[in-house]
Amino acid sequence: MAILVTGGAGYIGSHTCVELLNAGKEVVIMDNLSNSSEESVRRVEKLTGKQIKFYCEDIRDEKAYDKIFSENDIEAVIHFAGLKAVGESCRKPIEYYDNNIGGSVKLFEAMKKYGCKKIVFSSSATVYGMNNISPLREDMQTGGTTNPYGTTKLFIERILSDIYDSDNEWSVILLRYFNPIGAHKSGIIGENPKGIPNNLMPYISQVAVGRLPCLSVFGDDYDTPDGTGVRDYIHVVDLALGHVKAVEKASAESGLHVYNLGTGHGVSVLELVKAFEKASGVTINYKIAPRRDGDVAVCYADASKALRELSWKAERDVEEMCEDSWRWQSQNPEGF
Ligand code: NAD
Ligand code: UFG
Repeated sequence: MAILVTGGAGYIGSHTCVELLNAGKEVVIMDNLSNSSEESVRRVEKLTGKQIKFYCEDIRDEKAYDKIFSENDIEAVIHFAGLKAVGESCRKPIEYYDNNIGGSVKLFEAMKKYGCKKIVFSSSATVYGMNNISPLREDMQTGGTTNPYGTTKLFIERILSDIYDSDNEWSVILLRYFNPIGAHKSGIIGENPKGIPNNLMPYISQVAVGRLPCLSVFGDDYDTPDGTGVRDYIHVVDLALGHVKAVEKASAESGLHVYNLGTGHGVSVLELVKAFEKASGVTINYKIAPRRDGDVAVCYADASKALRELSWKAERDVEEMCEDSWRWQSQNPEGF
């Protein structure tokens, strides 16, 4: 029995494959490599000493599923595949709805066709919108997303909950990630954004290796202790381990469950810059810039439900996140 990991060549997917393989699971990856490289799959194999069956296929391609489901005994799916750049989604909404929602619907159709009814889905804290006050709890109202990317996450959550309502044999786990950073301890795999990074940690680490000249800190006049935005940064390996727990729960019982995967602690932009400087010994050149549209001041999780129901908790602190991001970036300054 194998786990089908869509988007398994990507940042979170590759780290999750390591932990699935370490936990003794068989892994099949489906990824069209639109935002990743097959090299990450090879490195996961090297790191674990185990083999992965890799399909370079698009989740929107119906025929690909016939091949994958007939050639493998798929027990459950972890669904990472999707486009994820907030700004790009505002410029290319049709592509985002087609890729993320269209692709997900094709996946769910194939799962139904082949009788595989267990799924763990990569959702995001972005579904809480702008109006809820942190710590964010799973029972808070969702909606009010401010960009097409966020709306695709909201809609896919809704589609999966309608599927569960129509057939209670499904097991659906919606994981709402906060801000994943860091990399595997080995420094062999890590985050490898194409072009100029949108997110804070890859931006900082590319300034550190000299690929970018200066970090812009988006706003220092928020109502936070140092005026800069506060987020719940979570080590990608902790996040990956959360998926192993989730897929085990999905395999054991049917039901619909939603979990935040975060640490429950907020860290400001300037605190992260300082922690990175300490971990790397490199001074980060930064300047204060205007606020970025659509940003909230503070966003962090109430992570207690995942502890209660999945026995999962984030163990790695910000220092370790920075050390591991730095090891990956300094050993692979140009990525894979
Ligand atoms: P990533 O871009 O590194 O990984 C996504 C993978 O999906 C890539 O390998 C890409 O090639 C693949 N993909 C995209 N469209 C595809 C398609 N049509 N068919 C097949 N493969 C396709 O991103 P990531 O950071 O690893 O994120 C994984 C998931 O987690 C995404 O769904 C993302 O929206 C979600 N998420 C990420 C964050 C974050 O900050 N990184 C936060 C919340 C949620
Ligand atoms: N920031 C900067 N400069 C930068 C980049 C970011 O100051 O160059 C600041 C932002 O203003 C924010 C913080 O750093 O205060 C974090 O920003 P990120 O872009 O790294 O992350 P976000 O919290 O904006 O969003 C991320 C993902 C979303 C996801 C969300 C919640 O990009 O897809 O986390 O999971 F929805």
